[in-house]
Amino acid sequence: MHYDPIVYLLETPKYHLLKIGTVNLFSGWVFNFGKQKIGSLNIYANDKLLGNFAVNLPREDIAAYIPSIPAVKTCGFSFELEIDNDNLTFEIVFDDQSKELFFIFDVANVINQQNYFNNLNNNLAFIPQPKPELIYLTQGHYDVDEYKNSIIPGVMNLHNYLQHAGVDVQQIQSLLDFGCGSGRLLVGWHLLAPHIELNGCDFNPKLLDWVQQNLSNQAHCVKNNLTPPLSYADNKFDLIYLISVFTHLSLEVQQEWIQEFKRVLKVGGYVLITLHGEIYVRNGFWQEPDKIHQFLNTGFAESGSNDGSNYYASHHSIDFIKQMMQGFELIDYFPNGNIAHKRTLFQTAQSQDIYIFRYEP
Ligand SMILES: C[S@@+](CC[C@H](N)C(=O)[O-])C[C@H]1O[C@@H](n2cnc3c(N)ncnc32)[C@H](O)[C@@H]1O
Repeated sequence: MHYDPIVYLLETPKYHLLKIGTVNLFSGWVFNFGKQKIGSLNIYANDKLLGNFAVNLPREDIAAYIPSIPAVKTCGFSFELEIDNDNLTFEIVFDDQSKELFFIFDVANVINQQNYFNNLNNNLAFIPQPKPELIYLTQGHYDVDEYKNSIIPGVMNLHNYLQHAGVDVQQIQSLLDFGCGSGRLLVGWHLLAPHIELNGCDFNPKLLDWVQQNLSNQAHCVKNNLTPPLSYADNKFDLIYLISVFTHLSLEVQQEWIQEFKRVLKVGGYVLITLHGEIYVRNGFWQEPDKIHQFLNTGFAESGSNDGSNYYASHHSIDFIKQMMQGFELIDYFPNGNIAHKRTLFQTAQSQDIYIFRYEP
C-alpha cells in the first residue's frame, strides 16, 4: 500500500484557535480507507488517558465523496476537553481494539506563540470573507468558519513543507498562487509573510472578480485563460504553488502550463504542486478496477469531463509527475500531506500528495 489510509479533518479547534486553561470543543471526522472500522479515539495528556471518545456521528456530507466505504456515514466525532499545558496525543482505536498513533497536538508550541496567534487572528478579522456559494466553488462545502479558520494553518503547513525541503521562506520575494480561487491562501501569506509580493491568478471570472473587489490590499490578482500564456514578465517568481489545480486539468493542459512556469519562474525558483495519488484513485474508481490497474501500470488516470472544473479529476504517481516535470528537480515529496511519515494536524489539501520542485534548466 502506497498511501496513508487514515483520512481525517480536525474541524475544531484549529491550531491557532486553541484556548489554554479552559474547555475546548474537539470535533471533526476520521475514517480508515480499509476494512477495519475506527470505533473511537483515545486522548492522552503526556501518558495519562484523558478519555475515550466514540467516532460515530453522522457525516453524510463526507460520505457523499467516499461512496466505497460504508463506515464513512458515521465518521464524525465531537467531545469537550479542558486544556492546560500538556501536549495531547490522539490515538485511533479500531473496532478490533487494535490501536495506532493518530497525531500529536503540540500544545506547548501554541502556548509559546499565543501573542503571535492573537495578532494574526485580530488582523484576519478585518479581511473580507467570501459568501458560502463562492466557497463551495473551490472547497466543495459551504462552511464559512471552516474556510476562514483554514487560512492560517493552511499557510503554516505550506511553510512547514517548504522549510522541510530546505527552502528559505525569508528569501522569497515574489510568489504566484496559480488557481488562487477566492484568495484563501494569499490572505494567509499576507498575514504570515508580509515581506513577499503576492500574486494570484485564476480562470474563473466569478472568483477573480470577488478577489479583485475585496482583496486588492492583500494581493495582486489577474484572470488567465484555461491555457497559457500568463501576463507576467519572464523570470518573475521565486515560488509558484498550485493547491488542488492540476487535479482538475487534463494532461495536455498541464503540460502547457509546466512550460509557461519555466518562463515566469526565476532559475532556482520553486514549484509546489498538490496532486491526487493512489488513495483518490482507489476511491474514485472503486467500481472500475481497469482504471485502477491503468493507474498502477502507467502512473496516470483521469475521470469526468470539463477541463478545469471540479467535475474533472486527474491522478498522478510520483514517477509520472517527475517525468512530466522535465527541467525541474524534485526536492521533496509529502505523500498524503504527511511530513516525515507523521500526520499534520491540519492538511493544506486534504489527503493529496505534495511535491516541491526546483527549476534547474
Ligand atoms: C479546488 S480549487 C482550489 C482553490 C485554491 N487553490 C484554494 O486552495 O483555496 C481549484 C481552483 O483552480 C482554478 N483553476 C482551474 N483551472 C485553472 C486554470 N487553467 N488556470 C487558472 N486557474 C484554474 C479553479 O477556478 C479553482 O479556483
